[in-house]
Amino acid sequence: TNRHEYSVIKASSSTTFTESHDLKVNTITTKPIEGQKTGTSGLRKKVKVFMQENYLANWIQALFNSLPPEDYKNALLVLGGDGRYFNKEAAQLIIKIAAGNGVGKILVGKEGILSTPAVSAIIRKRKASANGGFIMSASHNPGGPEYDWGIKFNYSSGQPAPESITDMIYGNTLSISEIKLADIPDVDLSSVGVTKYGNFSVEIVDPVSDYLELMEDVFDFSLIKSLVSRSDFRLTFDAMHAVTGAYAKPIFVDKLGATLDSICNGVPLEDFGHGHPDPNLTYAEDLVKIMYSDNGPDFGAASDGDGDRNMILGRQFFVTPSDSVAIIAANAQASIPYFQTGPKGLARSMPTSGALDRVAEKLNLPFFEVPTGWKFFGNLMDAGTLSICGEESFGTGSDHIREKDGIWAVLAWLSIIAYRNKSKKEGEKLVSVSDIVKEHWATYGRNYFSRYDYEECESEGANEMINHLRDLISKSKQGDKYGDYTLELADDFTYTDPVDGSIASKQGIRFVFTDGSRIIFRLSGTGSAGATVRIYIEQFEPDVSKHDLDAQVALKPLIDLALTVSKLKEFTGREKPTVIT
Ligand code: G6P
Ligand code: ZN
Repeated sequence: TNRHEYSVIKASSSTTFTESHDLKVNTITTKPIEGQKTGTSGLRKKVKVFMQENYLANWIQALFNSLPPEDYKNALLVLGGDGRYFNKEAAQLIIKIAAGNGVGKILVGKEGILSTPAVSAIIRKRKASANGGFIMSASHNPGGPEYDWGIKFNYSSGQPAPESITDMIYGNTLSISEIKLADIPDVDLSSVGVTKYGNFSVEIVDPVSDYLELMEDVFDFSLIKSLVSRSDFRLTFDAMHAVTGAYAKPIFVDKLGATLDSICNGVPLEDFGHGHPDPNLTYAEDLVKIMYSDNGPDFGAASDGDGDRNMILGRQFFVTPSDSVAIIAANAQASIPYFQTGPKGLARSMPTSGALDRVAEKLNLPFFEVPTGWKFFGNLMDAGTLSICGEESFGTGSDHIREKDGIWAVLAWLSIIAYRNKSKKEGEKLVSVSDIVKEHWATYGRNYFSRYDYEECESEGANEMINHLRDLISKSKQGDKYGDYTLELADDFTYTDPVDGSIASKQGIRFVFTDGSRIIFRLSGTGSAGATVRIYIEQFEPDVSKHDLDAQVALKPLIDLALTVSKLKEFTGREKPTVIT
């Protein structure tokens, strides 16, 4: 099939014509499509599903039907994505529907490229006029004709659309009857500049410059450069052939003086080079190989499909995301200018380890535990009570934008390392990533943490397992014995937003034991097929002499307990997890 005919096919089914700000708009009749409910982070399906007649068009039109007209009529919206397969066709369609609905201007990243954090940054920068933005990405899910596509909508302060909006969009997908499509030609996405179509215009922008400008405000680039350009410090950044490929060279090489060979998989590709662009120990295997080789680099990092996730490594050393956010928080004031008066507050998602809690306690900062999903941090940031936050799912960030931010996390780590090595002469032994982490554990204790993922299980078995666990918590009580552990509480996490009072329930089943250990069960909200079961296991160890164990060894008893309690094998038929982090 000719991919470029995609939007043309739609226009051919038009029935009526209307005029809106000098443009010819085709009104196309359509029928509701089942299953267009957004998950943790936008609507994600196989590309083939999105390419079905009107599938994407219906959802985009349903979105316009859900927004108050003053939020888009003659307003500015942003559009970009992670470069995956189908983005360019989708961009043309989104531009036409936006114009058809009376949007004044669309700002599009060149070649359709903008990372998720960059979209958030651009919306915030142009706050006076920008009312939101589209991100074409299925984040860390694989791309290509056989794989995933996705679309997210971010609102006027750059945050993912709240559930009130996404619920309304879903409602409208079930009653939609027509799509408004402007009759304009495909826009050339390849060169920067403005094109006008009547009162509607499209501006193609460089994907990096606004974002880079923000990073230069947040961080001390000359401090970072003093580290990165040293001959006795080597870094590797793995862009996983995803969107940060477009950002890595301009930032790490051109601005900060890293050598060109510091960037690996640095060209964004439509199928991410057949990869699974999720920065973890399983999928970022190129980086892991480099960092665990003899005499590997001093620092390694990777980012996901759309650039909001990050993984941090030292030489032969993995920093868990839960430790990473705690260490960034503990060192932020000293090494990052944006936090020079100290962070306002800290927060983590419920399954993320308690390492951050200890930093908040020591620094005497407000602290929040929210459900999984970056959107829950936004209100706290807007209310001025949260600066730094993170999730075990490789998301770390701050209130400089309203998304987690992969490159920000890398720059935060480089700032911390640079600050610690400021006075080190060339050739003198540098304070390493593992030194920094081990020092942190010595001060705060170590929260051993691991996550087991069982991807693409049969939904039925996975749901039955969750029902079984819900049943179990309803019968359990404080003081119950689970092997060597004594139960403190067992519940299905409920969160009440302290800012707007909204309640999110059924956010994960947790068993918390009297020594602070936790076992947590959740079904992923980001998969596109079947059900992914996640088990999170955590144990706190205050004793420095016990900090050097492998997490899998230290957590073995709790992991076994989690498997027994959940009857996971029985319900899912799975012997082993597909990913361990
Ligand atoms: C996305 C969200 C994160 C969230 C993660 C959870 O990346 O942006 O905020 O933590 O999904 O994914 P899950 O698959 O566990 O629902
Ligand atoms: Zn992502």
